[in-house]
Amino acid sequence: MRVLEPMTLKSHELINRFIRSATCEYMADEKGVPEDRFMELYSQLASGGIGIVISGYAYVMPNGKSNPGQSAIYSDELIPAWKKVTRVFQDSPSLFLLQIVHGGRQVRPKHHQGPIWAPSAVPDHAYKTRPREMTVAQIEEVGEAFIQAADRAKQAGFDGVQLHVAHGYLLSQVISPYTNRRNDAYGGDQKKRTRLVVDIINGIKKRVGDEFIVSAKINGEDFVPGGLKPEQAVASAQLMKNAGLDLIEVSGGMAESRLGVVRRDIKSIDQEGYFRQHSRMICRKVKIPTAVVGGFRTLSVMEQTISSGEADFISLCRPFIREPQLVLHFEKAAQQRASCVSCNRCFNPRGLRCWQLDG
Ligand SMILES: Cc1cc2nc3c(=O)[nH]c(=O)nc-3n(C[C@H](O)[C@H](O)[C@H](O)COP(=O)(O)O)c2cc1C
Ligand code: SF4
Repeated sequence: MRVLEPMTLKSHELINRFIRSATCEYMADEKGVPEDRFMELYSQLASGGIGIVISGYAYVMPNGKSNPGQSAIYSDELIPAWKKVTRVFQDSPSLFLLQIVHGGRQVRPKHHQGPIWAPSAVPDHAYKTRPREMTVAQIEEVGEAFIQAADRAKQAGFDGVQLHVAHGYLLSQVISPYTNRRNDAYGGDQKKRTRLVVDIINGIKKRVGDEFIVSAKINGEDFVPGGLKPEQAVASAQLMKNAGLDLIEVSGGMAESRLGVVRRDIKSIDQEGYFRQHSRMICRKVKIPTAVVGGFRTLSVMEQTISSGEADFISLCRPFIREPQLVLHFEKAAQQRASCVSCNRCFNPRGLRCWQLDG
């Protein structure tokens, strides 16, 4: 099966085409320092035979924190804590990437410090925030914060970073015409709306060198009126590829969307892989190594997605919460389908685990 076979990404030999999609651990203290529980969680994943493991989203500036228990990478003081986490992967064949984020307008007012930033002052009806429009200097400050975060991730021993440009967080707000209504160097058309992300990719490559993997998770579509459409996602992906992006992961939706990012009750194979059409467009038109996430549960559906050229990698989130060793079970043919029932009880600030099993 191609999904279980080795694959190359840049100079890296990957053991297979599976990716553990970024998953918030809810296991960091108030300042974003990963707790000891982090090491246990990632030890299991590091021995799970997964090609690439991506951490939960870590905020790059204190005012970019979205929820309690979220980890952070906004200061050099956090590097020693992250070194303890990456050490877990020392003898693992899996690559380990840190997902980095700024929440923008998708932050919880109760837990938030400082002004709420967004490309334009568009209120968020899901998070119930009224953000301020960022100045050009603040946009540049955010760009530099992402570049510094990637530099810290490299110092901490990660193989690369993933920019969180999906699900309605700040970089996703910047590339979306719904949330970015600017008419300056950072808005007005899709090229300008992608400029900040392009500058960040260029900046990271310049700061830490080309061997360090730079990935991005993007929306294939926002599913809100006036939001990012598939053809605009393709245009942004092309600009990111031109800037040197190494890997793109296709997802979709934001907190305000009618169609969810993390869909419930996936019971039949027709409900699986709900962003396959979006990844197909990006994979075929942009020709960049492409991963697709969203509702994959059955091995044959994953294999078909790869063999039909809709994606090069399959990303899973909830299946690995419940079964961190799922890929090993697939390899031994001991299992053909993930046991996760897509109930979403794992969104739990007490810590990441399958609460359907343990709750
Ligand atoms: C508990 C939980 C936490 C999540 N945290 C993140 C995150 O930190 N970053 C991210 O990009 N997506 C996050 N997601 C979304 C997943 O990465 C993924 O896109 C989504 O769950 C759909 O994939 P699945 O059907 O394989 O779970 C999270 C999902 C869950 C259930
Ligand atoms: S709680 Fe368990 S079964 Fe429910 S979605 Fe999360 S991992 Fe799957």
